[in-house]
Amino acid sequence: MTEQILHLSNKTVSNPAEYGPLRERGPLFRASIEGLESPVWFVAGFDDCKEILHDSRFIRDQSKLPGAEGPSLTDEMLAQVGMPQEYFKYFGLLGLSDGEEHTRMRNVVARAFTARRVNALRPSLEKNAADIYAALAEKKEGDLVSELGYPLTSAAICELMGVEAADVPLLQGWIMEFVSYDTERLVPAITNIVEYYKDLIARRRAEPTDDLISELAKPGGPDQDLLSDDVIIAIFMLLTSTGIAPPAHFLGQALLALLTHPEELEKLRAQPELLARRAVPELIRHATSVPTGGPLYAAEDFEFRGCPVKTGDAVIPSLVGVNHDPRQFDDPLKLDLARDLGPGVGHLSFGSGAHYCTGAALAQLETEVVINTFLLQNRTMELAVDPAELQYFDVPGKGTALGALPVRF
Ligand code: HEM
Repeated sequence: MTEQILHLSNKTVSNPAEYGPLRERGPLFRASIEGLESPVWFVAGFDDCKEILHDSRFIRDQSKLPGAEGPSLTDEMLAQVGMPQEYFKYFGLLGLSDGEEHTRMRNVVARAFTARRVNALRPSLEKNAADIYAALAEKKEGDLVSELGYPLTSAAICELMGVEAADVPLLQGWIMEFVSYDTERLVPAITNIVEYYKDLIARRRAEPTDDLISELAKPGGPDQDLLSDDVIIAIFMLLTSTGIAPPAHFLGQALLALLTHPEELEKLRAQPELLARRAVPELIRHATSVPTGGPLYAAEDFEFRGCPVKTGDAVIPSLVGVNHDPRQFDDPLKLDLARDLGPGVGHLSFGSGAHYCTGAALAQLETEVVINTFLLQNRTMELAVDPAELQYFDVPGKGTALGALPVRF
């Protein structure tokens, strides 16, 4: 019998309205996703996906599979965007490990996200959001992805790591080149970022301060056996690649959702106490700005809910699909800022289980501050284009992302 493989474009992967018939195909179905060479199992049901994310028979580290050979899907994605091989070691630090190895490294990374460090970012996030609002309002127009999302989230990551204030604009410039997905701009940018971090680690080793870099680089500190310079750089690349683009594009999508649902925005303006508790989680569910989770691999042959999974098969969670599953959410395509997502997180936009997003609290804080500044405290901003004209770009193998959000005041 020939295997039925469904071809999914990046646009389909990102469109919640297309998932009805896809979910009917079963808990897992075979799909080839635009930008990936090999077909995968795709999962789009909430319960099915949650179970997979908590099932230790599905692992992240493809090199641990019996008879593993060939590039991993992550290496395929890096090669697709033209990343030189010598830099591959700086990517996939947490996303590609399992079990004890993952837990130990994740605990090191989690030092960046103590409640103390995240809450300490609130005053500068509020100041940055207010300054950006004032500058855009004065020129009466702007793009909320490049002029708000990226500057705000990259400044927060730089502050979190301990990049010196005077160097922040320099690093922000390289980060914008790095996330351009254009090989000619990406390669010099990653070289500059890596060299900058190498130099900063050396300086903090010599003269430690109170920042994360000093804490990680401190001679004789805990976990020193793990923390070579390459690993510290990989931690910063992890925070750079996960902590800037996803929240920057998400902030654009959240503001777009509010500007195109004026009745929901009015509801929030009338009940601002909904913001942190209900509206932010609902916007994160509704927008699902990271359309797919990282690939998992079956470590053995088994049947998952009736589907014959073979050792080495890749499974990709469709976070868009699961967050709009009508078996989990009433009227799932609707944005309802008073929606009660129930106990716990309630959606899967940040994943679930061992690889749950470490930056979730920061992402929520950034969203709360931005909505408060741009739509509650100030009320004159509106979309400058028809939503149908907005441009989305492909993220190979992962769906699409909002390129720009032009507004006027
Ligand atoms: C709205 C914004 C964000 C979204 C939608 C998002 C989404 C996700 C998702 C879906 C995962 C899990 C992927 C998987 O299971 O393979 C993840 C993991 C991760 N995220 Fe986020 N994220 C966001 C913001 C952030 C921020 C601000 C940071 C850091 C400052 C961050 C750091 C991480 C890290 C380090 C991981 C890997 C955790 C691990 O593998 O153990 N994220 N994120």
